[in-house]
Amino acid sequence: MLHAVIPAGGSGTRLWPLSRSSNPKFLHPLTGTAQTMLQATMARLAPLSGLSETFVVTGVSHAVAVARQLPDLPESNILVEPSPRDSCAAIGLAAAVIEHRSPGAVMGSFSADHLVRDPAAFVTVVREAVAGAERGLLMTVGITPTHPETGYGYLHTGDLVAGGIREVTEFKEKPNAEVARAYVESGNYLWNAGMFVWKTDVFLAELAEQQPSLHEGLRAIAAVWDTDDRDAAIGDLWPTLTKISVDYAVMEGASAKGIVGTVPGDFGWHDIGDFHTVGTVLPATDEGNVILGGSKDEVLLVDVHDSVIVPGSGRLVAAVGLRDVIIVDTPDAVLVCPRDRAQDVKKLVDELKDRG
Ligand code: GDD
Ligand code: MG
Repeated sequence: MLHAVIPAGGSGTRLWPLSRSSNPKFLHPLTGTAQTMLQATMARLAPLSGLSETFVVTGVSHAVAVARQLPDLPESNILVEPSPRDSCAAIGLAAAVIEHRSPGAVMGSFSADHLVRDPAAFVTVVREAVAGAERGLLMTVGITPTHPETGYGYLHTGDLVAGGIREVTEFKEKPNAEVARAYVESGNYLWNAGMFVWKTDVFLAELAEQQPSLHEGLRAIAAVWDTDDRDAAIGDLWPTLTKISVDYAVMEGASAKGIVGTVPGDFGWHDIGDFHTVGTVLPATDEGNVILGGSKDEVLLVDVHDSVIVPGSGRLVAAVGLRDVIIVDTPDAVLVCPRDRAQDVKKLVDELKDRG
């Protein structure tokens, strides 16, 4: 049975003011159903992993909301971190705890901020990735790129290993725009979907080589995780752990050693990172508008086209004569911006931080 891990951290700054550090994007229904991103992620893992083998790693300020949204998940499977130390610490903690309890287990890590249109195809792909992990590979899922996105990792694919599994000869995290363009034009690269499947002992051995102090800290915490010494160990060690993403910490280096594999995943994958993307993946009205959440009564649009409207404060959002805009209404902040500036919403969050 696969041990499934959902790292749920980060604040989703490009989805401000809906996503806040106190109420981050994975707690919101952003995929057009009543389920939040976290609930949808968990639901798609159900055919692969039992509840007692499913873990969420999240920050102390979100643990209560996570437990409320996932009432069937055993509370001890919510691994709570005192502060965010990026994805390698979060995923590595789960790996170390799982390895301590079930040595040599196969685990998969699945981001909490993705939309998957075809959950059955997703399950098939993950099963193939499990087969790769059992051969000792650090497995990824590869998505056919549609544009030179700089916010993703890229996988240079090599020879077929077995079944649908290919070798990854280079893992490059977040290349610059020029490099990303060359990768996409070459036709030899896939996007890294942000899903990883590996044997916990294989991953931890690689972590030990590439990030020895992070590995040591995580092992020490995991060794006492199921004892009364957990809080003291977390309190002492967590703030000392290297803050780095698993992509830079482990995957780039591992790919140079020929131990990374990928299964191409054609299951309608989208990273829900900004409001423009929300507008491209969700069903639109005849006018091309996407209205997220709220009720019809909360929106009044006349001659508005191809826009993304997010009501949510209870008051009416009314607009006339607009095209390609984003309007997000929350009780304490309203966002208005053109769709082609959706990436720049994070600049507002930076400004707000500067204001203190
Ligand atoms: N618990 C916890 N704590 N989770 C975290 C933390 C943290 O400090 N930091 C990040 N995460 C979680 C996020 O919630 C997400 O589920 C996952 O780890 C990946 O982190 P992101 O911050 O969203 O990474 P990214 O989007 O920049 O890049 C990753 O995903 C891309 C695809 O969406 C990389 O794996 C890229 O290579 C990949 O293309
Ligand atoms: Mg992400």
